[in-house]
Amino acid sequence: MTKNIVILISGGGSNMAAIVNAAASNDWAQRFGARVAAVISNKEEAQGLAFARERGIATAVVKHRDFASREDFDAALAAAIDSHRPALVVLAGFMRILTPGFVAHYAGRLLNIHPSLLPHFPGLNTHQRAIDAGHSVAGATVHEVTAELDHGPILARAEVPLLPGDTAQSLAARVLAQEHVIYPQAIETFLAGRKAD
Ligand code: GAR
Repeated sequence: MTKNIVILISGGGSNMAAIVNAAASNDWAQRFGARVAAVISNKEEAQGLAFARERGIATAVVKHRDFASREDFDAALAAAIDSHRPALVVLAGFMRILTPGFVAHYAGRLLNIHPSLLPHFPGLNTHQRAIDAGHSVAGATVHEVTAELDHGPILARAEVPLLPGDTAQSLAARVLAQEHVIYPQAIETFLAGRKAD
């Protein structure tokens, strides 16, 4: 049976695009029996949706603002995701905190990328916080999602130098370029059914 991957985005979707491109160029269909089945956003203006549509990938929007509670939103989101029978759900710049029930439902098949070297700087504004802390390296982490925000077993990390004069924007761009490398790699590792090195 095909391993369907559902990707959740909130904005630019550059990680999603890197994953879609890797799936095609690295032949995930042949190697892993896997395909990106759908891209779902909580924001209808998310730019990544257009990219997915152009690639013939199913898209959906589940707006968090339409729901009174996190539980109601997560239930609607899970219904949209589960209509694609996912083997793997990939958070790619999905900027919502998920309820414990949602996380439990996808236990063992829910991945996230976070733009810091976890366990440093969970949460928001990671790049400015790395600069303010005077760190000399920054980076990104791919991890399995567990109930605690930005925790969970780590599948991959990438380090970049933090340079004198860096701003949050310049650092974010340097980190993002590495995210595009490690996220597809980590997903390949997951699909191959082995732990990262
Ligand atoms: C990425 O840097 C990702 O690590 C971060 O948002 C950006 C999304 O970019 N995610 C988080 O901060 C999650 N808490 P993209 O939409 O171009 O992939």
